[in-house]
Amino acid sequence: MVEELENILKDATLVISNARTIDELDKLRLTYLGKKGIVTTIAAKMKDLGKEEKPTAGKALNKARTAINDALEVKVLNIQEEEDKKVGGNIDVTLPGTPLPRVGRHPISQMLSEAVNALRRMGFSLASGPEIETEWHCFDALNTPADHPARNESDTFYFADGRLLRTHTSTVQIRTMQNNEPPVRIISPGAAYRRDEIDATHLSQFNQLEGLYVDKNVSLADLKGTLEYLLHSIFGKKTQIRFRPHFFPFTEPSFEIDILLQAQGKQPKWIEVAGCGMVDPNVFIEVNKSRNDNNYSPDQVSGFAFGLGLERLAMIRWEISDIRLLIENDTRFLHQFA
Ligand code: PHE
Repeated sequence: MVEELENILKDATLVISNARTIDELDKLRLTYLGKKGIVTTIAAKMKDLGKEEKPTAGKALNKARTAINDALEVKVLNIQEEEDKKVGGNIDVTLPGTPLPRVGRHPISQMLSEAVNALRRMGFSLASGPEIETEWHCFDALNTPADHPARNESDTFYFADGRLLRTHTSTVQIRTMQNNEPPVRIISPGAAYRRDEIDATHLSQFNQLEGLYVDKNVSLADLKGTLEYLLHSIFGKKTQIRFRPHFFPFTEPSFEIDILLQAQGKQPKWIEVAGCGMVDPNVFIEVNKSRNDNNYSPDQVSGFAFGLGLERLAMIRWEISDIRLLIENDTRFLHQFA
């Protein structure tokens, strides 16, 4: 029996070392050590042995069982390692990872969240609209006549079907009023596109933050208070702000808002940060036509709207001299905003 066991162990060691898959090894375990396995069957014969034979046979049996079990376990580990290597090459998974360089939030994101936080405190909620727009939403509904220069091919990206890449986020004013009853108080950040030559102060895609508030008795004082609060939250309470008369087709009266920039060692300078004004009655009329009702009757409601350029805000806050730095993803630049 001892000899028999030794032969079995020899055989087992050989077939186990030749096995290629975990499946094969599972089967071999059954063949040798399973309930009806070879070793188990021999063990059952132990009781028939004579007294003198039993101890040596018992030892041989234990030895064979342990050795086969060990061989199976070692082989399973080998095969697993081989398979891991195929997947991961010679990666040592215990090595610490390469840390990604830590940079902060992008300046545009920082400006956006500061502006949104301030406006939400005043009850504005977020709205959105598509970047590919109809001419109607981008111009006609916003009281912009067909011969307005902004509508030129040279200023606006048009698609063959007549749609366009919105030139401002004011389109969301229209979409909001089409789909909601007054009062509305929304802000809408997003991309706008113009066919501008790209230089230190122009990109063909940039980010705006639109705002619209329509209700009974909304006044110019509300507009001023809202935008002063917003700009003071962003640039500090001491920052001087002025409203300079301007023209937009969709607001009347209209203003551009400037803040006084007082960089160290430089002449103070007024810099434009936003356009705004009281919603032009013609915009309400156009919205009503498309809604087929008179819920935005210029006799019943009034409103203000504003649009801020987020790149502009970031450039002022951090004295960034070239707008292109904001889109180049150079970590040496971005690192400074951590
Ligand atoms: N849409 C204008 C622009 O892009 C800004 C603006 C928004 C002006 C809302 C008035 C009211 O220049």
